[in-house]
Amino acid sequence: MLAVYPGSFDPVTNGHLDIIRRGSRLFDRIVVAILRNPEKKPLFSLEERKRVLGLATAGIPNVSVDSFDGLLVDYARRKGARVIVRGLRALSDFEYEYQMALMNRRLDAEIETVFMMPSETYSYLSSRLVKEVVRLGGSVSGLVPLDVERRLGRRIGDGARSRRRGGGGRKDGKP
Ligand code: PNS
Repeated sequence: MLAVYPGSFDPVTNGHLDIIRRGSRLFDRIVVAILRNPEKKPLFSLEERKRVLGLATAGIPNVSVDSFDGLLVDYARRKGARVIVRGLRALSDFEYEYQMALMNRRLDAEIETVFMMPSETYSYLSSRLVKEVVRLGGSVSGLVPLDVERRLGRRIGDGARSRRRGGGGRKDGKP
């Protein structure tokens, strides 16, 4: 059975990868589907997110990476997938996920949403928090793949470090 695992993945975290690994043991094939949504103003371009996810899932043979726009159920149907996988971290995820699952069912009753729990190690983890921590100069080591950690450092970490030093001012710290 083919499953679609949709999301923004801006960027992919170890929580996402945990769900992908668990899903890959349950389903014959998983397509990780990145939402192409320019309105969301992602930190990483679609191409970069695709590349990063491709590298991070390279060791899992039944996983592939793709992108989509428009309705998720239309994409799933085009792919021949009957299952949408979503990760549920905490109770706070439930309401949004429940609404989305029921709306998707209304749009296409043949497609089922399956919720999977990531390891509790990642139950508090989100792409949004990861970006915030790096922006404020904290470490996300162990929470995202090394490749993502480096890219985050280059993209936002350097800026954060120079801002903490008083960015733009004199390097010797004098006013
Ligand atoms: O990682 P995210 O941002 O929580 O993923 C949200 C996603 C991509 C699953 C959701 O926004 C989505 O499916 N968008 C596609 C548009 C769509 O089908 N909307 C109706 C769903 S109720």
